[in-house]
Amino acid sequence: MYLPKLLAKAARGEKLVALTCYDASFARLMVRCGIDILLVGDSLGMTVQGHASTLPVTLEQMVYHTAAVARGAAGEGLILADLPFGSYQGSASQAFDSAARLLAAGANMVKLEGGQVMAATVRFLVERGIPVCGHLGLMPQSVNRTGYAPQGRDPPAAERLLEDAERLAEAGAQLLVLESIPAQLAQEVTRRLAIPTIGIGAGPHCGGQVLVLHDVLGLTPSPPRFARDFLTGAPSLEAAIAAYAEAVRTGTFPGPEHCL
Ligand code: KIV
Repeated sequence: MYLPKLLAKAARGEKLVALTCYDASFARLMVRCGIDILLVGDSLGMTVQGHASTLPVTLEQMVYHTAAVARGAAGEGLILADLPFGSYQGSASQAFDSAARLLAAGANMVKLEGGQVMAATVRFLVERGIPVCGHLGLMPQSVNRTGYAPQGRDPPAAERLLEDAERLAEAGAQLLVLESIPAQLAQEVTRRLAIPTIGIGAGPHCGGQVLVLHDVLGLTPSPPRFARDFLTGAPSLEAAIAAYAEAVRTGTFPGPEHCL
């Protein structure tokens, strides 16, 4: 699916439903369940490869998984692929080369982590035909600096995040993932920006929600508090994923128990 169709949905006030996806079989299942955004997340470094962080994931691996997801999705759903650590921070032209590989593999949009410092890179990509999704709040590629702690909890940090969000949107980012921040802060970002926000551990007021597939299927040994296992009690994988989509669309997920 191309971005304009997704943005039209958001403009009609529909909640966007995103889920991480790493292979063709799940891509087929997800498009049958009406998942809007298939995120080929670098979380695959943890969920698929068993690493302790996303840092070891390579561009080659992201290209491989993006191509598999694109084959399974067969034109349905927007395929959003993460630029992995070290593949875009060096320069705008490095980011372009990496993003071009992901688009050639079938991605419709790329995601990168970082605020104002990435704004020039976002602009460079967008002006050259590459749609960009930003990612603020808890940024797993910065784990060595922040750990996995929630972000934006004190007023100066919240103000910095708001600034970052505005700079990314001005630079041309067309979606923004907000991870692990207070619901009120995510609400304020969402109110200020004209682009949709997609929350994960960011409360119910975002324009959409994303979760990691393995959390939705109850496969994560110590899942984050903001996640929910939709498989327990569901008759099938397909029913679990459909229930997640329905819960996001109807606003029953996330609930207060999933907020910071
Ligand atoms: O890689 C990933 O799965 C992500 C989500 C946590 C948003 O970036």
